[in-house]
Amino acid sequence: MFSVVKLASETLTENYSPNLFNHFYETSPEGFWVAEKLQKIIGFIVGIKTNNDTSRIVMLAISDKQRKQGLGAALLKNFIREMTSQNIKQIELEVKTDNKKAINFYNKHGFNIIDTIQRFYQNGEDAYIMRQVF
Ligand SMILES: CC(C)(COP(=O)(O)OP(=O)(O)OC[C@H]1O[C@@H](n2cnc3c(N)ncnc32)[C@H](O)[C@@H]1OP(=O)(O)O)[C@@H](O)C(=O)NCCC(=O)NCCS
Repeated sequence: MFSVVKLASETLTENYSPNLFNHFYETSPEGFWVAEKLQKIIGFIVGIKTNNDTSRIVMLAISDKQRKQGLGAALLKNFIREMTSQNIKQIELEVKTDNKKAINFYNKHGFNIIDTIQRFYQNGEDAYIMRQVF
């Protein structure tokens, strides 16, 4: 778990308490996937079910040096496959409105912007809510 916490602090702009990762893993192990290379964790996705038919991606990140090889897509596809096999009908997520790379990435994988939340992030930035319905 230490590797995931470290990777999150290197790749994500929000600060998450280390306890939060244990909490997500204990309560939603089916939504917690990691990507490994040579036994090193180089990416992860954390998602949770928010009700019977909806889940939410809380975090997704790939180590800077390992991007653009399809690893983000692989983690996202695993997550979607697991969720749809558990009868999840929609997946939602929040993304910074200026994070063009991630917005494109999610668009390409079937997510659409459905709303904006003002001042969603710790630094006061806005978020888009993106959603995919199955
Ligand atoms: C968003 C993020 C998870 C994508 O991860 P990734 O592993 O780079 O994703 P992929 O490799 O699947 O796809 C990214 C791009 O690489 C391209 N790509 C994939 N495999 C490739 C290959 N073998 N050769 C060349 N390009 C490739 C994809 O087509 C895609 O291109 P595009 O940006 O033009 O659409 C990553 O950029 C990241 O960790 N960002 C920081 C954290 C973040 O913003 N998270 C999301 C918000 S929570």
